[in-house]
Amino acid sequence: MVRFLQRAVAAGAVVLAAVSLQPTSTATAGTMPVVGGTRAAQGEFPWMVRLSMGCGGSLITPQVVLTAAHCVSGSGNNTSITATAGVVDLQSSSAIKVKSTKVYQAPGYNGTGKDWALIKLASPITSLPNLKIAETTAYNSGTFTVAGWGATREGGSQQRYLRKATVPFVSDAECKSAYSELVAGEEICAGYNEGGVDTCQGDSGGPMFRRDNAGAWTQVGIVSWGYGCARAGYPGVYTEVSTFASAIKSAAASL
Ligand code: ARG
Repeated sequence: MVRFLQRAVAAGAVVLAAVSLQPTSTATAGTMPVVGGTRAAQGEFPWMVRLSMGCGGSLITPQVVLTAAHCVSGSGNNTSITATAGVVDLQSSSAIKVKSTKVYQAPGYNGTGKDWALIKLASPITSLPNLKIAETTAYNSGTFTVAGWGATREGGSQQRYLRKATVPFVSDAECKSAYSELVAGEEICAGYNEGGVDTCQGDSGGPMFRRDNAGAWTQVGIVSWGYGCARAGYPGVYTEVSTFASAIKSAAASL
């Protein structure tokens, strides 16, 4: 079997994302959202954003969306991305749609680790709450929620309605046994040994999050990559937000 680690390619992401979001796999781990999930309720994850290149994102300030570096093609002025927010239904007439003005791709991003990027919006979305990011490793364990409009199985289509699932933390040691290339300090894994629940193509850039000790949602990961979707023994790999929290915050403040 040919091994393929699916990650949407950065260069020319607007065009390529659509192509690279098509998995090349034969196998299908049959399940539901995101794979193995259910529909999210309107307003449940109000800071969830869909980006027009086919990725997810999170509103971390009124005017900045956190997404994956592999969803964008570099840093600089960029008015080509549309962010859709405030709705679970992407076709809703009440969707808030705002164009990008700038993109900031993680410095040093070369396809291995450091998979984060920021998108500045043309105007702030003040009607929605923001998702706070984990600034310490305190929440890098337990059970996480993931959400997105991506495929519900390998090779599946993008979804009109936002879906969600929960996945347990997987230790770096265990994750390394599936993925020798794991950058343990920059990536955090989640999924069940038996598979069946996972993010998938088109969920990239979206948040993985959990409640903090005060009960507030906190983003601990960014959907990054995996071997297929929801396969047994192959957890999902997420950017470890706590590692980059300081860099994300300062970049967001100066974008
Ligand atoms: N790289 C994919 C994207 O661009 C996300 C893949 C996540 N895969 C996984 N098995 N968790 O949408």
